[in-house]
Amino acid sequence: MIELSERIKRIKPSQTLAITAKANELKAKGVDIISFGAGEPDFDTPDYAKEGAIKALKEGKTKYSPAGGIPELRQAIAEKLKVRNKVEYNPSEVVVCPGAKMGLYEIFAVILNLGDEVIVPAPYWVSYTEQIVINDGIPKIVELSEDNGFVLTVDHIKDAITPKTKALVLNTPSNPTGAVIPRKELEKIAEFCLKNNIAIISDECYEEFAYDEEHVSIASLSKEVREITFTVSAFSKSYSMTGWRLGWVAAPEKFAKAIVNMQSQTISNPTTFIQYGAVEALKDGGEFPRKMREEFIKRRNYIVEALNNIKGVKCTLPQGAFYAFPNVSYYTAGKLENDMRLTEYLLEEAKVAVVPGSAFGKEGYIRLSYATSMENIQKGVSRIKEALEKLA
Ligand SMILES: Cc1ncc(COP(=O)(O)O)c(C=O)c1O
Repeated sequence: MIELSERIKRIKPSQTLAITAKANELKAKGVDIISFGAGEPDFDTPDYAKEGAIKALKEGKTKYSPAGGIPELRQAIAEKLKVRNKVEYNPSEVVVCPGAKMGLYEIFAVILNLGDEVIVPAPYWVSYTEQIVINDGIPKIVELSEDNGFVLTVDHIKDAITPKTKALVLNTPSNPTGAVIPRKELEKIAEFCLKNNIAIISDECYEEFAYDEEHVSIASLSKEVREITFTVSAFSKSYSMTGWRLGWVAAPEKFAKAIVNMQSQTISNPTTFIQYGAVEALKDGGEFPRKMREEFIKRRNYIVEALNNIKGVKCTLPQGAFYAFPNVSYYTAGKLENDMRLTEYLLEEAKVAVVPGSAFGKEGYIRLSYATSMENIQKGVSRIKEALEKLA
């Protein structure tokens, strides 16, 4: 019998995608499900991005592109990073990849050796730990606290480093908590990483959705910090282009080259004609994400207040991204013994899909994506309230 590799046996499937699939299955059967599961904006991709891709298709741009992306897009991303993120990269230091997810995977692949540790603050986005494991690394989890809004501080990192520490994953604004790390704290974290030779993997997928604090790219702090940082982001959330699979990694030449090399031997290149659509997207200077941002702020304010009005539920105000991450331990400490059971209960009883906190390494919480209409939010939260208060 042919066995699966030991490596792949260590990997858990993505629970966020599993919940979304389950909710979609019920919807297809005609059940009136309200889904707070999906991590994608409910806005359509801007027309100018679509038209850019269609035009490229019609012009026959349907062949292989360079492994690191078409020069126009690498240039446009470098320009965006310079103007909007205040960090300078040569186009050759920008690698276009099929989504930030693949970009992150490639970073772990090019820097980790067997047994290297990567500090991952929890709650964390579901794929970091699995991607580290698949690349022979060890995720070193540091627990963040709701009491300071789940913000990572330098002290968390100080407690976690060992001689094996190779890198730190930063995710600001954060999925699932919405925490935004303030500039002052980023400065301390950067200084510590520089002193201890720790690479910074800065996942900035939600960079356009910082509400009360400014978004700061850690690589913009100084030339020295830039040298140890991988800046990762994507068109997925910012331009509502999740299905296009297009993101980037910006990093010093040595690392960018290694990632391009890896792409040349694995994917060959990100799909050629869609890259032209992405060039058109960036020409708006951020206007499209700014519009989404305004809408998300209204929804955030509403959903957090509505959740806090449910007996036993406590929700801190997320500073960014489009997720609420309420504490529901009042319920999981009772009849429903964990957040997975609570999630199942909400799907069955309230016909509402949410993701359990345990998927993000934090039991006793649930994640609700508010990238859905205000009407759905109102209806969904009132269903949750009714179902939970039955248990209370
Ligand atoms: C924090 C974070 N990083 C990376 C990704 C992956 O983004 P992409 O769809 O561009 O691969 C996601 C998607 O949910 C995310 O939430």
